[in-house]
Amino acid sequence: MRFFAGLLLSAVAILVTVGWLTPVGAQDTRGSNPHNLPETNLASEGPQAWHGGFDAPPGFAHATAARNPQAPDAKPVGEATCTACHSREQQNFAHTTHALGMRVALAADPSTATCEACHGAGSAHAENPTKKGLIIAFTHDGGTPIQTQTSSCLGCHAGGPRDHWTGSVHQRNDLSCSDCHNPMAKLSAEGLTAKQSINDTCATCHKDIRQQFNRRSHMPLPEGQMACVDCHNPHGTINAPLLKTNTVNETCYQCHAEKRGPFLFEHAPVRESCLNCHTPHGSNQHALLVAPVPMLCQQCHSHMRHPNDLFNEQMLATGAAPDERLMGRGCLSCHSQIHGSNNPSGPRFHK
Ligand code: HEC
Ligand code: HEC
Ligand code: HEC
Ligand code: HEC
Ligand code: HEC
Ligand code: HEC
Ligand code: HEC
Ligand code: HEC
Ligand code: HEC
Ligand code: HEC
Repeated sequence: MRFFAGLLLSAVAILVTVGWLTPVGAQDTRGSNPHNLPETNLASEGPQAWHGGFDAPPGFAHATAARNPQAPDAKPVGEATCTACHSREQQNFAHTTHALGMRVALAADPSTATCEACHGAGSAHAENPTKKGLIIAFTHDGGTPIQTQTSSCLGCHAGGPRDHWTGSVHQRNDLSCSDCHNPMAKLSAEGLTAKQSINDTCATCHKDIRQQFNRRSHMPLPEGQMACVDCHNPHGTINAPLLKTNTVNETCYQCHAEKRGPFLFEHAPVRESCLNCHTPHGSNQHALLVAPVPMLCQQCHSHMRHPNDLFNEQMLATGAAPDERLMGRGCLSCHSQIHGSNNPSGPRFHK
């Protein structure tokens, strides 16, 4: 009796183990199966239609070919056909986030689009490879309109940080996703950027801005500790210079929280905008200032008590009439709490 019970128990154990080990692909029941890839909710409602319509939020699982209006009748041919002619591209692609994810999705569902999820159905191109437009190309002379290119990516990546892509300054200036991203090779540690780092990617077009970070005073961006995207969202925002936050000050407070206040005694221009005195990308003045002290202060404080002098070289430490308001740290020697004071006797920002 005990022997049969033991046999029964082991049989049950074996059956359970076998069921558990069955490969994901063998249990294809779209969506309802807990072993499917987690759904990546990357897209909002609209642009999914570009991928033929998903019944689930589009991740890699069950991806369909991107829609290419220039080859409406093309049929998907599958990755093996593409790589027969494009083996070198396939090798570079193999190390990327997309390739790794798509590999798993393809194993689970052999009809999943991989190359064609971005490049569109390829039968027309495979028959006539030199006719431009039949495949979604992301190069500027590839014959595919920018809008078709970006729609291909946005089919999976609309929404979130790209909520304001349409109408953004980069979209209006005809940038394609591929101006900053190269998903065909793993050139950067993360983000699939077209150059090794985010800063190098931006610098392909914004050399002047990148150059400003080489000035005497700068935040540690050339040192690799900050990136343009700490302050900007290149995909579009609701404000003009693509700032990640609603105002300049909110952007600065992300890291300089101690400047947020509120202070018992506020210095009005600090509350208004840090840019009244600082420049974000680099300055040849100390502390990223837009002008040297005391001239900086005197732009606003001129017709009152002691700042009412105009300074000249005679007032330098070596001059005929040295003035302490020009010497050393200038106004800051006394008005040191320039961003605001919490001291009961600090209304003039002395302490
Ligand atoms: C019969 C061989 C062949 C097959 C199959 C093929 N291609 Fe191509 N493909 C080519 C050739 C040749 C070119 C270069 C055309 C040119 O330079 O004008 C090319 C160009 C391209 C380009 C670059 C377009 C540009 O100008 O930037 C892309 C993208 C591309 N193919 C993707 C694919 C994909 C995806 C598949 C599978 C759906 C595929 N190809 C299947 C031969 C092929
Ligand atoms: C995630 C989207 C995506 C996937 C998936 C993808 N590609 Fe690409 N492909 C691109 C982009 C973007 C470019 C343009 C890269 C650039 O700026 O040079 C490109 C460029 C190409 C080119 C032109 C030559 C080059 O490297 O610039 C070929 C050929 C190509 N892809 C083939 C393939 C093949 C074959 C596959 C599948 C093994 C594939 N692609 C998968 C997005 C994709
Ligand atoms: C079939 C859907 C699909 C398409 C089409 C697609 N992607 Fe992706 N992409 C994904 C998924 C899923 C991830 C992984 C998301 C994650 O890890 O959160 C991803 C990741 C990324 C990442 C982040 C990579 C990283 O290492 O952090 C970038 C950048 C990206 N995609 C750009 C693009 C661009 C550019 C295109 C168009 C050329 C494109 N994608 C087309 C599904 C897609
Ligand atoms: C002007 C440059 C630029 C353009 C154009 C651009 N991106 Fe990006 N994108 C970036 C940078 C830089 C990052 C890296 C952010 C990071 O790693 O923190 C990024 C990150 C991403 C990511 C991964 C992180 C996330 O936000 O989920 C995805 C996905 C992505 N971009 C998709 C796209 C798509 C789709 C397009 C085209 C509609 C596009 N990007 C156009 C610069 C750009
Ligand atoms: C392919 C070229 C290109 C690349 C790469 C590029 N940009 Fe731009 N960017 C532009 C153009 C063009 C404009 C519009 C310039 C103008 O109107 O004067 C612009 C404008 C901007 C603006 C100003 C917005 C405004 O309203 O004044 C910011 C900020 C910006 N880009 C940030 C970035 C960042 C951050 C990156 C890297 C992630 C980047 N850009 C990469 C071409 C590029
Ligand atoms: C510390 C935050 C910060 C960082 C980091 C930063 N920016 Fe900016 N950026 C700003 C602010 C704030 C403005 C608005 C300046 C103004 O209105 O005078 C701006 C403006 C811009 C503009 C448009 C106005 C102009 O001066 O031409 C461009 C383009 C730009 N940034 C590109 C970049 C690029 C490229 C990088 C990386 C190399 C970068 N920024 C890094 C904060 C930053
Ligand atoms: C992503 C984080 C980050 C953001 C956002 C940021 N900063 Fe900074 N900032 C730093 C770091 C890091 C330093 C260097 C601190 C050090 O060396 O001790 C710095 C230094 C400074 C300095 C002193 C520079 C010097 O030469 O002494 C000023 C001024 C400054 N930031 C102003 C700003 C302003 C204005 C903004 C908003 C436009 C801003 N920061 C946004 C990280 C940031
Ligand atoms: C009225 C002009 C003025 C405004 C507005 C201003 N600052 Fe400053 N800031 C200065 C001066 C002057 C210094 C140099 C102080 C010194 O050398 O002791 C300085 C220094 C700094 C420093 C480096 C030294 C420190 O105190 O940490 C940071 C960081 C900084 N400011 C951030 C900000 C931020 C963030 C804002 C916006 C909330 C801002 N500043 C607004 C005048 C200003
Ligand atoms: C962009 C204009 C601007 C700049 C630059 C500026 N301030 Fe001010 N400052 C103001 C305003 C506005 C007030 C508030 C005046 C009021 O409440 O009557 C103020 C108030 C003050 C006060 C308190 C005076 C009082 O009556 O309460 C002192 C002290 C002061 N600033 C010193 C400085 C110093 C030192 C600098 C240079 C590092 C400087 N300010 C730069 C605009 C500026
Ligand atoms: C040697 C110390 C010292 C230096 C240097 C100094 N101040 Fe003052 N400042 C003071 C004192 C003390 C007061 C307060 C006077 C009072 O409360 O009656 C004051 C008051 C002020 C006020 C408020 C004036 C008013 O009408 O209420 C302003 C604005 C001001 N200083 C700006 C400046 C500027 C700008 C500089 C640099 C050009 C500067 N100070 C340099 C000590 C100094």
